[in-house]
Amino acid sequence: MSETNENQTPAGEGTHRDRVRAELARRNAEAFGGGGPKRVEKQHAEGKLTARERIDVLLDPGSFTELDRLRVHNCSDFGMDMKRIAGDAVVTGHGLVNGRPIAVFSQDFTVFGGTLSRVFAEKVCKVMDLATKVGMPVVGLNDSGGARIQEGVDSLGGYADIFLRNTLASGVVPQVSCILGPCAGGAVYSPALTDFILMAEKTSYMFITGPEVIHAVTREKVTKEALGGADTHNAVSGVAHFKGLDDRDVLQECRRLLSYLPSSNREGPPAEPPRDRADRDVEGIEDIIPDDIRKPYDMTAIIRRVVDNGSFYEVQKFQAKNIVIGFARLAGRVVGIVANQPQHLAGCLDINASVKAGRFVRFLDAFNIPILTFEDVPGFLPGTGQEYGGIIRHGAKLLYAYCEATVPKVTVITRRAYGGAYDVMSSKHIRGDFNYAWPTAEIAVMGSEGAVRILYGRELRGIEDEEDREERRRELVNEYEEKFGNPFKAAELGFVDEVVEFKDTRRRVIGAFDVLKDKRVENPPRKHGNIPL
Ligand code: HXC
Repeated sequence: MSETNENQTPAGEGTHRDRVRAELARRNAEAFGGGGPKRVEKQHAEGKLTARERIDVLLDPGSFTELDRLRVHNCSDFGMDMKRIAGDAVVTGHGLVNGRPIAVFSQDFTVFGGTLSRVFAEKVCKVMDLATKVGMPVVGLNDSGGARIQEGVDSLGGYADIFLRNTLASGVVPQVSCILGPCAGGAVYSPALTDFILMAEKTSYMFITGPEVIHAVTREKVTKEALGGADTHNAVSGVAHFKGLDDRDVLQECRRLLSYLPSSNREGPPAEPPRDRADRDVEGIEDIIPDDIRKPYDMTAIIRRVVDNGSFYEVQKFQAKNIVIGFARLAGRVVGIVANQPQHLAGCLDINASVKAGRFVRFLDAFNIPILTFEDVPGFLPGTGQEYGGIIRHGAKLLYAYCEATVPKVTVITRRAYGGAYDVMSSKHIRGDFNYAWPTAEIAVMGSEGAVRILYGRELRGIEDEEDREERRRELVNEYEEKFGNPFKAAELGFVDEVVEFKDTRRRVIGAFDVLKDKRVENPPRKHGNIPL
């Protein structure tokens, strides 16, 4: 008699094992079916993928291992005990991106509108705990109606459990949020606590209160898209860092982003075999930087020439365009780039630029990514808007971030390095490791026109004839420029380590990061600093 027959029970067809297997298949099929064909159809009709389809696009083929597929919610109010779907409204697990492990949770809008139940939260917390424990990034795919109303405060507690984990995992493992549908109310705060937010155009939005509530309270009329769509959060609010045309585009973008990030703060970012010669000359920079100090140029054209060919990956490129941030590779190794952009607001630091770059510098430092700074900054942006908005406090964020950072820091002053902004942009004084200046660099308290106005105002006002006054003014401007319109004073003082020819820049910065690769600096022990938030 076979083992199978021994296990037979009188209660039904086949063996107990057969029945368990059949039940498992039924439950798995229920989980794989999500909210059923109609809701899946609706999801597709809206141009969105399902939670599982998204995971398939995000991960390397066949690499997904699901956890908690059979969990069901335990709410029985409002007839919910009659509506249980295996897995509930989120798919969780781990898999590989470019061969490296990540944890993932994918909210399933077809199941109870992707809303968050107690069990949903527990599933998310489980993969977050796993990721933090083993050291792998967490990617959240968000598409949800928010707190599950039927579960009341239990749902709010579930959110708080996730917020706590987001915060404790911050700086330990990279956290990335893809917003692929609704994300409203307090639910926005989990993505907001993560390192990067990517949004799908047209199908995603994030806001604290929606258009109806806003209209009821303030009488303002605004569409969902204008209030919290991908364009708004990428270009205006600075909440998001990337946008994509649709789910697929966003998920591919997410894969690219992850290729620059370490798995955790215990390691450095992933190096690749160099695809560009480390010792090549940098060509064409003299044609980019105009002779006239007041004329703009595109800093990204300089970055692209210095870093490994095709490796520059700009972050948050639609907001605070006066500062450029992003990742790149130098001889195959990842660096973070921070650069003033003379094409916008003359490259001045303002509130948005300081916050954008300050947060990025802290990310880089937390995850052992060396920082390469390109500097052309005429100062902080003047204006009552900036002062009333707190440029003092916000500008201090960038200063604090650079001061605090202990990763290798290399700076190239391309042109202007004026005033307090000179100090802020990774100067030697705040532990810049290697600070280079190009022959076009001008390092001074301010530009020549402003300096002459202040230093010689009385003398100039005393000259009655307008032409004579202008002639004298020009003379003084030239004299000032002769004295400070160059990198030599700073080089004499050791505030720049070397005045480097344009063409030697790549060799020099690669060499610098090479020397710095085992850099160790410790900040004084403390619970935590008090960054001016
Ligand atoms: C329970 C919900 C739900 C919710 C949607 N559903 N939101 N169930 N709790 N919060 C259900 C619907 O009943 C529906 O079920 C299914 O999800 C899909 O919803 P639809 O309305 O048919 O879809 P759509 O027309 O695309 O509209 C999506 C939506 C809308 C814009 C998200 O559903 C909506 O406005 N929902 C309420 C959003 C909200 O106010 N959430 C609370 C936010 S506050 P059936 O069975 O018909 O398919 C919050 C606090 C977080 O989240 C606190 C953190 C501290």
